[in-house]
Amino acid sequence: ADTATKFISTQRDLPSLRMASAACQACELHQHATQTVFGEGPLDAKLVIVGEQPGDCEDIEGHPFVGPAGKLLQEAMTDAGIERKDVYLTNAVKHFKFVENGGRRLHKKPSSREIFACRPWLEAELAAIRPETVVCLGATAAQSLIGRDFRITASRGKIQTTEWCDRTIATWHPSAILRAIDETRRSEMKQQLVHDLRIAAG
Ligand code: URA
Repeated sequence: ADTATKFISTQRDLPSLRMASAACQACELHQHATQTVFGEGPLDAKLVIVGEQPGDCEDIEGHPFVGPAGKLLQEAMTDAGIERKDVYLTNAVKHFKFVENGGRRLHKKPSSREIFACRPWLEAELAAIRPETVVCLGATAAQSLIGRDFRITASRGKIQTTEWCDRTIATWHPSAILRAIDETRRSEMKQQLVHDLRIAAG
């Protein structure tokens, strides 16, 4: 299967990776997305947070976590005592996947083939940064880094060792919290996200 590997040059530093990722055509998502949204943050970040894929706002602005999910993540990080400027934020899939409905672009979950195709970018980011801790937000990021069978409901908040980082932990995706049925559930999930981010921060 096609992966991003053939778009990655021998230059494996983050600025080179970012530049190369702009031309990635490893899967079909580049055809409809506005641009590649690469990770952002300090080159020596101790904490990397991995989301699923850019959303509508991220696709337009070109930066990760600048939309509604990003706002919730920001609140949770603040509650957990984490400053955004210290964190490298990225996604398992670097192009926005959507379906059009009445002029609106609705998020569509990336397929396992797309996650697999995009993983070399995430691996290269982690290899360049070598963070102490990786937080996977939601099942897509967790399945990319921890394993295909990973379930947030079963293994949320547990520190696991992966090929890429000795401290890898998965928690709720902020979008899952925004989608939760009622306010009670939303606030419970947000507390769990804050709790897990606090563990991640050490
Ligand atoms: N959701 C994600 O998973 N990543 C983003 O960058 C924005 C929203």
